[in-house]
Amino acid sequence: MQKLNLGFLCSHGGSNMQAIIENVKKGNLLAEICAVISNNHQSGAIEKAQKENIPYYVVNEKTHPNESVSDIKNNATNNKVNQEIIRIFKLHNVDTVILAGYMKLISQSLIDAFNGRVLNIHPALLPRFGGKGMYGLNVHKAVIDAKETKSGATIHIVNPIYDDGKILAQVEVPVFTDDTPEILAERILKEEHKLYSATLIKISNGEIIL
Ligand code: GRF
Repeated sequence: MQKLNLGFLCSHGGSNMQAIIENVKKGNLLAEICAVISNNHQSGAIEKAQKENIPYYVVNEKTHPNESVSDIKNNATNNKVNQEIIRIFKLHNVDTVILAGYMKLISQSLIDAFNGRVLNIHPALLPRFGGKGMYGLNVHKAVIDAKETKSGATIHIVNPIYDDGKILAQVEVPVFTDDTPEILAERILKEEHKLYSATLIKISNGEIIL
């Protein structure tokens, strides 16, 4: 068993993060939640980190604007936001970066800083229904519009393209003909909460090698 030092990047509710915290508390997952970073100061993830006494930070284009011409050219690839995220996570000894509902692109420099140990969860069966614009209810609406009979969630390694990296784990759920995007989202989110911890347990015990 290898203890994982997790750093979270979240933009919204943080329910996936909370599910992982609960598994750490129960002793199911050998890990420490070292720090939480959100681009959104009003996110539920920040509130949850506060309650759990986990160091938390708000980092976004307002708190860390690009300054030089090369920063601006490299926006979303090697900008001040990504540099600050690396600094904070290194300060807290993070070895594995967990994206859980993080809405921003990750730079190659951030991926390299953590030796590729950067994971994301997506609420569909990648490689389908991923990519730019495929987030939140848009994903579930697209699945329903395509008359799919199943959907699910995917954990993958992050590269600088949205939802594109190597797939590590998936779970399927049925899609029913009377599903709304909201109902489908809820069914999938429940499974996401189990899948993220299960995947991290496999990484910790060496079943999955990053
Ligand atoms: C999840 O559906 C996840 O798959 C997607 O964003 C949502 C985050 O939910 N990337 P939460 O913030 O963990 O509650």
